[in-house]
Amino acid sequence: MSDTLLREQIAYYRARASEYEETALPTLGAGDTPMAREWRDAERVVHALPQYTDILELACGTGVWTRLLTQHTEHLTALDAAPEMLELNRAQVNDARVNYECVNLFEWEATQEYELVFMAFWLSHVPDAQLDLFLQRVRRALKSNGTVFILDEPRGTKNVIPTNENIQARTLNDGRTFSIVKEYYAPEELCARMRQFGFSSIEVSRGDYFFWLRAARSQND
Ligand SMILES: C[S@@+](CC[C@H](N)C(=O)[O-])C[C@H]1O[C@@H](n2cnc3c(N)ncnc32)[C@H](O)[C@@H]1O
Repeated sequence: MSDTLLREQIAYYRARASEYEETALPTLGAGDTPMAREWRDAERVVHALPQYTDILELACGTGVWTRLLTQHTEHLTALDAAPEMLELNRAQVNDARVNYECVNLFEWEATQEYELVFMAFWLSHVPDAQLDLFLQRVRRALKSNGTVFILDEPRGTKNVIPTNENIQARTLNDGRTFSIVKEYYAPEELCARMRQFGFSSIEVSRGDYFFWLRAARSQND
C-alpha cells in the first residue's frame, strides 16, 4: 500500500475534523439499536479501566475517548497526525494534563514508556503490510507491566462500508472524496500476530459491530 494513500488518509482526516463527530460512530451510540448498545458496552469497559501513572493515546481524533481516559491518569499524551483534530480535542477536552503531539504514526517511535497505550478506531487504518512494524512500536512504547487496549471494527462487522482491497472511498459533506485504508482485522488473527511480537495475557471481546482487545507486554522479552 503506497505512501500516497497514507498521505491521503491524513488529508482526509484533516479535512473531516470539523464534521467528524456528527458523522462518526459515536453518534450511533445514541438510541437503542444493537450497534448503540455495543458502543455503550465498549464505553463501560473503558470507564472500568484502572488508574495508570501515564497513558498514551494513539490517533486521538477530536477527543471522544480522550475525555474518558483523563479520568484514569494524571499524565496523558495524545498523538494524531491531523492538527485540526488535535485543536478540536484540546478545545473540547480542555484539560491541562493532556499533552498533544502532531505525529505521523507510520514514522513514529515512542520516546518514553507508558503503562497504557490506547487506540480506538485506528488499527483498521494501519495496512496489513505495516501491522507487524506498528505492533512492535507499540510494544516498545509499553512499560514492562504495561497494557495495550485496542477498540475497532472486526472483520465481518455488520457496519458494512463498501471496501475494495482494503481501501475505502470516503466522501465529505462538501462532496470531496478521499481514499483511505480500512483493514478489518479478525481479532483471533490479531491475537496470534500480537503473541509473536511480545504481547501476552490477551483478552478479546468481539461483538457484531466492534471488538476490543487488551494485552500485556510480555515479561520475558
Ligand atoms: C477514525 S479516526 C479515530 C479518532 C479517535 N480515536 C476516535 O475514536 O474518535 C482516525 C484518526 O487517525 C488519525 N490519523 C490518520 N492518519 C494518521 C497517521 N498517519 N498518524 C497519526 N494519526 C493519523 C486521524 O487524524 C483521525 O483522528
